[in-house]
Amino acid sequence: MKNQYALVVGGTGMLKNVCHWLIEQDYHVYVIGRNQSKLNKLKQETIQPENLHGIAVDYQNSTCLSNELSNLFETNGIPDIVVSWIHSSAPQALPLIKDMISKQDLSTDWRLIHIQGSARFLEKENTPVPKNCLYRRVYLGFILENNDSRWLTHNEISSGVIHAITTDSNETIVGTLEPWDMRPQ
Ligand SMILES: NC(=O)c1ccc[n+]([C@@H]2O[C@H](COP(=O)([O-])OP(=O)(O)OC[C@H]3O[C@@H](n4cnc5c(N)ncnc54)[C@H](OP(=O)(O)O)[C@@H]3O)[C@@H](O)[C@H]2O)c1
Repeated sequence: MKNQYALVVGGTGMLKNVCHWLIEQDYHVYVIGRNQSKLNKLKQETIQPENLHGIAVDYQNSTCLSNELSNLFETNGIPDIVVSWIHSSAPQALPLIKDMISKQDLSTDWRLIHIQGSARFLEKENTPVPKNCLYRRVYLGFILENNDSRWLTHNEISSGVIHAITTDSNETIVGTLEPWDMRPQ
């Protein structure tokens, strides 16, 4: 049986704890980020460094991203789970990832945990996915406290994403998005 593996796109910042948790759940974890030293540091911090594999690539560069993913999928098959935190500056990156997974395998189920910022909640975007993709959306909200509000901490974001993975909900809001007028400025 092949090892279960996760691909975390943008995993060296606020999603660090998600990477650590996935390792604890016995996943091999492949993490995309540009900065090799951040990837090295994340690897050093995990309980099983041999199971964390950094992929240093700029996801804005489709050719480089596509080459890296080709190598990954050729060697390991498709990921069981993709956690995606991709900035709006690279709108082509997630479609490319979905497309390449589909070209590799259209019959094995895989999960996509699609993390989006607060503002995307208002857009209610429809994200097309291949038929073997179990799509789970996670919106990052904010925290209301003492008649005021603040953005989520990295720990709160990672915990919310872990909660979304364990509950397997179609849609998760980390923190709150209401009342919208109360969001931090
Ligand atoms: N509540 C909300 O709605 C909301 C929404 C967004 C953000 N936030 C907050 O804002 C903070 C900043 O957000 P952030 O996105 O900078 O978070 P981050 O998770 O700290 O950093 C972004 C991650 O994506 C990677 N990355 C960025 N651009 C990339 C590229 N072109 N190619 C490959 N990898 C890339 C980064 O690694 P490299 O730098 O090495 O490439 C890093 O791993 C977060 O910490 C969060 O608390 C809140």
